[in-house]
Amino acid sequence: MKKILLLLLYLIIIFISIFVWKKFLVYHQLETKVNMQYNAEPVYLEHSNEFNIVNANYIEKYYDRYLAYKKLHSDYNDDTIITYVNIGLDHSFYTNMENTDMSDGILVLCNKYHTLKSNYVPNLVNLPGKYGGGQMQKEAASFFMKMVDAAKKDGISLRNVSGYRSYATQKYLYNSYVSRDGVSKADTYSARPGTSEHQTGLASDINTASSKAHFERTKEYAWLIKNSYKYGFILRYLEGKTFITGYKYEPWHFRYVGEKVATEINKLGITYEEYYVTYIMKG
Ligand code: DAL
Ligand code: ZN
Repeated sequence: MKKILLLLLYLIIIFISIFVWKKFLVYHQLETKVNMQYNAEPVYLEHSNEFNIVNANYIEKYYDRYLAYKKLHSDYNDDTIITYVNIGLDHSFYTNMENTDMSDGILVLCNKYHTLKSNYVPNLVNLPGKYGGGQMQKEAASFFMKMVDAAKKDGISLRNVSGYRSYATQKYLYNSYVSRDGVSKADTYSARPGTSEHQTGLASDINTASSKAHFERTKEYAWLIKNSYKYGFILRYLEGKTFITGYKYEPWHFRYVGEKVATEINKLGITYEEYYVTYIMKG
């Protein structure tokens, strides 16, 4: 009997020790404001007095920005604040530009906060005429052709109407839209030179590049939404996400990110900006 009681006592002591140790770990994290590994799942969601700093994507040097943004958006939870500030949304588009991190390869982020050098030209291959012609990076082109071939088997006809565009071409295009519509309107649908994904050679406008065509109502669009991720392509400028992407809905603009990432993004249903700062960005 005595032995059983002793055993029980030992067990209780072990359980209490584990519990105390876990608590200690949580508070230790809070105290030292540990910036967790990117790619890691958020581990602890305890709140300090001011702010949830224990988020996998928390970046120490942005602490003041998080607080300032939280003051403006008290309706957002702390994880959203961290995501949006990491994207750069606490600054107006084009006001806080950084160079795109080219070491990201096919995952490069090119947007209204990340710019490509004017002389950046990727390695390109030509798309044969039956795929619509134009140029893309080799891997993207190869998967684009696989996608078009697969669509064809399903009775769906796809072609690239705009793939790679040089900095100079984008500059010409953007300036002509500005002359026609003015800067604010042009900015809703055309990228300023250096910030177009078309300069990466990883994007394709499929079948059309005009809102008036209502590509989103076609069976080709429906096929792409159902299947493009299998070939590594994502729809880049989602409906209702202009405040993040900076662009109006573009049902025709697809971006190659590779099958693994495209599959994850498809599952999550988020913008590439959100995905990038959560899973790719190096803090
Ligand atoms: N229309 C897209 C946003 C571009 O100009 O790259
Ligand atoms: Zn496009």
